[in-house]
Amino acid sequence: MKLLKRISLLVVVVFIAMQFFSPTKNVSPGNHTKVFITETNPTPELQNIFENSCYDCHSNNTEYPWYNNIAPISYWMANHVNEGKEHLNFSEWEKYSLDKKDHLLEEIEEEVIEGNMPLLEYTYTHGDAKLTEGQVNDLVEWVKQTRIIYQLGKQPK
Ligand code: HEC
Repeated sequence: MKLLKRISLLVVVVFIAMQFFSPTKNVSPGNHTKVFITETNPTPELQNIFENSCYDCHSNNTEYPWYNNIAPISYWMANHVNEGKEHLNFSEWEKYSLDKKDHLLEEIEEEVIEGNMPLLEYTYTHGDAKLTEGQVNDLVEWVKQTRIIYQLGKQPK
């Protein structure tokens, strides 16, 4: 029993100590997805979908919930954001080649059709981020039209 008490105390101390540390936040005020929006021309409804369901992990600006102030949740979230951004970053769209943009659009279509994105655990706390069937259809339609721009751009002149 004494050992159990000591372990509990240690856990509490470590938890408190952890609160003095936090990962760097992913924030970038202003119009951080301007190039993406200008190039791919999504409707306002689609822009809302990206904003509500994707940007928190796939852009340079995350809207943090209050519990992000608690370690180790903050580290777990930072991890998701870093990994998400590594795969796809809407704020750095200008850095991708035509091929890459075309491929990313294809991936977006796949991920939303399969229901992999937004990540399931994200929708537990962001109920409105989950995509409806109508939203998925709109996204797929937009992907089809937008890929044509990049595919035309790929053809030799
Ligand atoms: C909670 C964070 C989070 C949210 C929200 C989120 N994603 Fe992701 N996404 C990730 C992570 C992490 C990965 C990489 C690991 C994986 O595939 O599970 C990823 C991978 C992807 C990939 C794969 C890219 C590649 O190169 O294979 C695409 C495409 C994607 N996400 C699109 C989206 C779209 C579109 C939305 C919004 C509808 C979205 N994601 C919302 C975290 C997120």
